[in-house]
Formats: sequence, structure tokens, C-alpha cells
Amino acid sequence: MSQPTYKSVVLAERPKAAIIPGETFHLKGNPIITEADLKDDQVLVETLYLSLDPAMRGWLNDARSYVPPVKIGEVMRAASIGKVVATKSSSFSVGDYVTAMSGWTELFVANADGKDGKSLTKLTIPANGKATDALGVLGITGLTAYFGLLDVGKVKEGDFVVVSGAAGATGSMVCQIAKLKGAKVLGIAGSDDKVKWLKELGCDDALNYKDTNFVSDFKEKTKQLIDVFFDNVGGEILELAISRAKFHARFVMCGAISQYNSATPSGPKNFTSVISLRLRMEGFIVFDYAAQYDQARKELAQWLAEGKLQRKETIISGGLEAAEHALIELYNGINTGKLLVEVKPDEGGPRL
Ligand SMILES: NC(=O)c1ccc[n+]([C@@H]2O[C@H](COP(=O)([O-])OP(=O)(O)OC[C@H]3O[C@@H](n4cnc5c(N)ncnc54)[C@H](OP(=O)(O)O)[C@@H]3O)[C@@H](O)[C@H]2O)c1
Repeated sequence: MSQPTYKSVVLAERPKAAIIPGETFHLKGNPIITEADLKDDQVLVETLYLSLDPAMRGWLNDARSYVPPVKIGEVMRAASIGKVVATKSSSFSVGDYVTAMSGWTELFVANADGKDGKSLTKLTIPANGKATDALGVLGITGLTAYFGLLDVGKVKEGDFVVVSGAAGATGSMVCQIAKLKGAKVLGIAGSDDKVKWLKELGCDDALNYKDTNFVSDFKEKTKQLIDVFFDNVGGEILELAISRAKFHARFVMCGAISQYNSATPSGPKNFTSVISLRLRMEGFIVFDYAAQYDQARKELAQWLAEGKLQRKETIISGGLEAAEHALIELYNGINTGKLLVEVKPDEGGPRL
């Protein structure tokens, strides 16, 4: 009789450019873990949702970065939401919802103190919120938008803010926070439906960068020139934004998704304009703000409760097997708002 198993996905091969289906990652069966395998102060968690993030492609490169690369044979790194199924910790009960850096796995053991690198945290669902907000508006996504726009971008009332990747998880938060701060906002996204949604969110205007007239439309819509450019995509859109920047404009360098799958990433050709226009271009990593997360989460949760922040999720079902394809499609813009993979339906659970 075959032994019960659970699945995980490991890195099999480092891609040189885009992720190669069936080659980059391998699905692996593992002997099942039970309560008997837990040590004191450990919990056993089954994964319900995985967060899919553009940064994942960078974690596959053997390069110096803000986190070490995922090793060959190691479970693919990811944040998740899960449910405690067994516990030897007085701080967690069976049925508790948690977030953790579990990776792409159906089942995992984590230390209750969060100090084993998995950062196990019990979930509290705020007013007007749902559990998956912990990976979106109240997670790294919302925090990135918050600190990037407010601390790096120093947005203020009356600023003209342009956001690339605007209908994605981070971008859609940036647009709304900029509006809350009294800015005028132009969002850039990759489809007409996304443009429509951005206008519903309160953007003053939005453009589809795949339209044939995009470059001339962008010039027309940025006649007053840009105060703050929040960049999620890099590449040609960044180059265009530089050409329309005000003197001393602030460029928040959050991400460059257009370059992540390229074997030869490139920068803007008009880079010397950074000098002549006296631009301040500043990269940041949200982890640098960890000491201020609680205060920011409080404000984000407050805006959510008051209906001042809207969010969308694109949830891909199909279990752990769906993660690889979903990640590939993230770079093709499959998502509006936050992209999640449903690893296991939470039957009988609370609002997830
Ligand atoms: N610095 C930090 O600490 C930090 C933290 C989190 C995230 N980030 C960065 O923030 C950015 C957004 O992350 P996210 O998690 O919110 O992802 P996301 O925006 O929800 O998803 C990525 C989106 O990028 C767009 N995109 C893909 N290829 C593109 C291209 N070639 N040109 C223009 N747009 C393209 C797609 O939308 P379209 O349909 O519009 O193309 C896609 O939906 C990423 O660059 C990520 O690396 C940085």
C-alpha cells in the first residue's frame, strides 16, 4: 500500500531568461507530516493560498541581492496563508489562520516564535477585510505602496503622480494612496479593462501602454510634467517618464518587471536626463521599513475599513500544480490586483 504524501515545488534549474515550464521547477512528493513529528512550540500548517510576486524571478538568479537566491533543490520561496492543523504551541490552536514564508508546499512545520525564517504570524481579519488581505493590501503589497509613495516619493497635495504597473497589486494601492493625499494621478496598465478599473478607483486618467497611440497619448496627458513617477516596470515606460519629468521630480524605483525575464536587462537610453533635470531616482526594498510595519498596517486597515481603499484579487485555482503557470502568466499581466494561487479550498472556514 502506498504511503500518504504531500506535495511541494522545488527549484530544479536556474532559468537564463523566462521560466521554462516543466524545467525550472519540479513537483515533488514528500512523506506526510503528522502531529507526532512536531517538537515543542511547533505547529503544522496546511497551505491555503500562495502569494505570487514578480520578485520571484529574481530569487532564481544566482546573484547578490536583498535576499539569497533560492537554492537548487530547495522549495520555491513564497509567502502564504494557511490553517493550523496540529499544534504543540500554547500560542496557536487548530483552525487558526496564519501567514508564513512557507514556500510552495502543501504542508509545513513552523516554529511558533516565528524565528525559524518562516515568520509564522496569526491572522487577524480587520473590519471590512478578509484573510487574503494579509497578502495584499495589508501585506507586503500595501506596505510597498505606502512606504514607496509616502517616504521615498514624498508625495504631497497637488503633485502630478504617474504610476506604471498601475492595475497590479502594488500599483493599484499607489494610485489610491496618491489620491488620498490629494495628488493628480495618471495610471498606466496593459489592457482596456485595467484602464477602466483604474478610473473606477479614482485615477484622474489612465492609459493602456499596448495601444498604438500610447506614446503620443502619454505625451499629451503629461503636458504639465511629472512630479512623482512610481515605477513598477522599468524599460520603455521609464524612459518615457524621464522625458516628461519636471526638474527635481522624484522617481520611486520600486520594480522593473519588464526586465526581469530578459537575459540582457537594459536601462533607459535617456539616463543622462537624470542629471540635466536634477531627478532624484531612489530604489528601495520594503523590508527596510519593517520597524514601521505596524503603524502603516494600522493606517491601511483604517482606510480599508472606511472604504477608502478598494482592492481586487486574481485567484488561480488548481492547487500547487497551478503555481508555475500562474507565475509565468504574472509576467504576461494575467492579474488585476493581487495574484494568488489557491492551494486548497478552505471548506467550512471563515471569509477567506
Ligand atoms: N521594492 C520593493 O520592496 C518591492 C516590493 C514588492 C513589489 N515590488 C515590485 O513592484 C512591482 C509590482 O509588483 P506586484 O507584486 O504589485 O505585481 P503586479 O503589479 O500585481 O503584477 C505585475 C504586473 O506587471 C505588469 N507587467 C508585466 N510585464 C510588463 C511589461 N513588460 N511592461 C509593463 N508592465 C508589465 C502586468 O500588468 P499589465 O497588464 O499592466 O502589463 C502584471 O499584472 C514589481 O516590479 C515588483 O518587483 C517591489
